[in-house]
Amino acid sequence: MLILGIESSCDETAAAVISDSGHILSNVVLSQIDVHRPYGGVVPEIASRKHMEWIIPVIREGLRSAGVSARELDGIAVTQGPGLVGSLLVGLEVAKGMAYGLGLPLAGVHHLAAHIAAAYLEHPQLSPPFLALVVSGGHTALYHVLAEDRFQLLGQTRDDAAGEAYDKVAKLLGLGYPGGPAIEQVALSGDPHAIAFPRGLTKGSNMEFSFSGLKTAVFFHLRHRCLPPIGHQTLADLSASFQEAVIDVLVAKSRLAAHKCRVKRLAVTGGVACNRRLRERMLAMGKEEGWDVFFPSPSLCTDNAAMVARAALPWLRRKDRHWDLGMNARSRWPL
Ligand code: KG4
Ligand code: ZN
Repeated sequence: MLILGIESSCDETAAAVISDSGHILSNVVLSQIDVHRPYGGVVPEIASRKHMEWIIPVIREGLRSAGVSARELDGIAVTQGPGLVGSLLVGLEVAKGMAYGLGLPLAGVHHLAAHIAAAYLEHPQLSPPFLALVVSGGHTALYHVLAEDRFQLLGQTRDDAAGEAYDKVAKLLGLGYPGGPAIEQVALSGDPHAIAFPRGLTKGSNMEFSFSGLKTAVFFHLRHRCLPPIGHQTLADLSASFQEAVIDVLVAKSRLAAHKCRVKRLAVTGGVACNRRLRERMLAMGKEEGWDVFFPSPSLCTDNAAMVARAALPWLRRKDRHWDLGMNARSRWPL
């Protein structure tokens, strides 16, 4: 069985072909980062227009590099939501057209289920139940994954997502967009304990997150404690201390959640899971507790279509599946 995955929920136009064993035959991602960089963040109208321009060439390239023709496909999986509605619609309508024209089943995939499914692609030994921490630009959430298509939400952010906090703090510090990789780089030469930034919602056994207070704390520190011009070491200490505060919370909440759910396997996914300090700290926790911690490779942590195709596998394998070419994009969609 060969599945075409299509992703266009934010600022990456992506197509991939995988087999039903989860083998990746192609994984093409065209990022719009350079297009949005001058604006310091994703501009939704520009994002959907770029998706329109790029989606067909990206799908063609996905098929070509897999050495597969559209006629050989057995199913199509597309991100149905959540995300930017104009962007989602581009991928969804192209997927519907292809599914109708080729007579193929079409799966509408939840973007967070796809980020979680990314963990299976390179780790066939990972199977539910396990704990998933999804940390991206739009989401920060902990799930108890009960089956490949059954998720129990344990807690999510009340305000900013972790990636969003990285992006906003990087903007405050003048480090550019996207903020995650920029802060990670500058933080390498900083002291993570230089400034005691707040760790949101860490009292008690709360599994929710809050990062907006941390962002505000960085803003006030910069305004009242740092005299311009801000030197490299100050910037490095600020970045490292901010990063440590985010990671402390992510590690502490994951530990708490894994104990509560009595799981011994954790998967960390989404763009922020590219972060090397987060990886180190999560792996150290795993070692301490005797848990296995899984990360997708960085290229599968950020938005891609292989994870979308992988998330649709349980549904595509089912004989009683039914699908709806009238399905609509869902900009908000709880998992
Ligand atoms: O999963 P993703 O590609 O898109 C969403 O679904 O949001 O995640 C993008 C987010 C951005 O906020 C970006 O700053 C963050 O992931 N990110 C990182 C790193 N690489 C990307 N955050 C921290 N450290 C990184 N190395
Ligand atoms: Zn994402």
